[in-house]
Amino acid sequence: MTQSFDLIVIGAGPGGYIAAIRAAQLGFNVACIDAWRNAAGGPAPGGTCTNAGCIPSKALLQSSEHYEQAGKHFAEHGITVGGLKMDVPAMVGRKDAIVKQTNEGIAFLFKKNKVAFFHGVGSFVKADASGYQIAVAGAAHETLTGKHVIVATGSSARALPGAPFDEENILSNDGALRMAAVPSRLGLIGSGVIGLEMGSVWRRLGAQVTVLEALPTFLGAVDEQIAKEAKKAFDKQGLKIELGVQVGTVKSGKKGVSVAYTTAKGEARTLEVDKLIVSIGRAPNTAGLNAEAVGLKLDERGAIAVDDQCRTNLPGVWAIGDVVRGPMLAHKAEEEGVAVAERIAGQHGHVDFNTIPWVIYTAPEIAWVGQTEQQLKASGRAYKAGTFPFMANGRARALGDMAGMVKFLADAQTDEILGVHIIGPMASELIAEAVVAMAFKASSEDIARICHAHPSLSEATKEAALAVDKRTLNF
Ligand code: FAD
Ligand code: NAI
Repeated sequence: MTQSFDLIVIGAGPGGYIAAIRAAQLGFNVACIDAWRNAAGGPAPGGTCTNAGCIPSKALLQSSEHYEQAGKHFAEHGITVGGLKMDVPAMVGRKDAIVKQTNEGIAFLFKKNKVAFFHGVGSFVKADASGYQIAVAGAAHETLTGKHVIVATGSSARALPGAPFDEENILSNDGALRMAAVPSRLGLIGSGVIGLEMGSVWRRLGAQVTVLEALPTFLGAVDEQIAKEAKKAFDKQGLKIELGVQVGTVKSGKKGVSVAYTTAKGEARTLEVDKLIVSIGRAPNTAGLNAEAVGLKLDERGAIAVDDQCRTNLPGVWAIGDVVRGPMLAHKAEEEGVAVAERIAGQHGHVDFNTIPWVIYTAPEIAWVGQTEQQLKASGRAYKAGTFPFMANGRARALGDMAGMVKFLADAQTDEILGVHIIGPMASELIAEAVVAMAFKASSEDIARICHAHPSLSEATKEAALAVDKRTLNF
């Protein structure tokens, strides 16, 4: 028997599950299909973000940071720790428990909002007058019909040519998050977000980490001044990052992995490691969808082609999150999910790409929103810049976490904030103020005139705003 819905969402990652909940809130009869299987083969709603991305990586970052603090920094506070040990299976077990709790939370939210959940692979069968027919291949085979469909199937890690992931020696994000022991030599290909976060976790736990990056510039998308500061910090921590390399043949065997590569100067080298994490970007998941059955168009990158409202070429079919253009971020997927559900309801859902924050959860954390100084220079826009170092912030000194700065970029004439860039403690939380300010088209003077609690890290944000007008009070 075919079950009919107003809306079928394929994928229960942050894009899909949020879209399903918002649509249910708006009164639609909604189904959400998701294929992710937990270790026991059961459903695990939450997508990459919950199962092998945002949440588990932050859990390991926290555990490893505690270990590093206890081993290297507690002594500054007069705390002596004897017999410090890392139990990796316990750390991974804690992470797994957090993932499970999150899966269960999403299943609960589906029930609460009366979203019908189906576990299995969803694929298009045909389109007819009643809408789109979607087959679910799971423990049971079912067929659903929906007037509207949102495709939110996410992305998967890209492998290096000739070096498929075996999750034993050559690891994607999935294997990187569940190593049973600390490798003594860890290699990473790609010094992007995953490379830096995963490299940090395993370095803190004692691995000797080498990152091979193809581009000659470090963190090219980040404001140059911030990227320079970050490179200095990572060098000091012992994260070895080689830029401008060309990776050649990768061989995996019983003794580990050897990676042949050419350095920026053209020298041939081989990196021998116990484990290799490949983090060279992600590819959209479209393979299981049977998109051809209904003529759903893909773009030249293999992502689902959408307009700026997330409409595909098919009436009533929408696509959101990692499977479409734009940054591969959970909160971007969520925003698109809400906006599409509202558009289906005839409302004016909106996503402002200029105020989507980015965070890299290393220590120091790196966070930004809006344009970088190099982007403003390239576009010829006249701007003013103001920076304030955490070194001069009382709370940062009390925390013992003084590396980094807050940087404001504002329009030279109107003073509108064009970008805010932070490297330092709790940058992930501090950036929210900048996002709010930019969403409300605030000027740097607006932030400079707002009372910020003392002593708090947020005072560095206020001081950086004051610095735009060259009138910092504490530096
Ligand atoms: P996904 O989360 O990938 O979910 C898609 C779901 O669809 C999956 O469950 C998949 O199994 C399912 N699916 C696929 N095809 C089908 C099908 N045919 N039928 C049924 N189900 C299907 N982003 C951040 O914002 N912050 C972070 O800190 C962060 N950390 C990350 C760390 C790592 C290691 C990784 C890999 C990613 C991280 N990301 C982070 C990125 C974030 O995980 C993604 O941007 C986000 O998950 C995308 O959401 P989505 O809903 O589009 O897709
Ligand atoms: P990425 O795009 O961030 O970085 C990939 C890096 O690999 C780039 O620097 C690229 O130049 C390099 N590279 C590509 N091919 C290469 C090759 N053959 N040899 C050497 N280097 C090569 O991708 P990553 O780290 O895989 O992460 C994927 C996405 O997941 C991110 O872009 C981000 O959207 C998301 N993510 C977000 C996080 C967050 O918000 N904190 C955390 C982790 C991932």
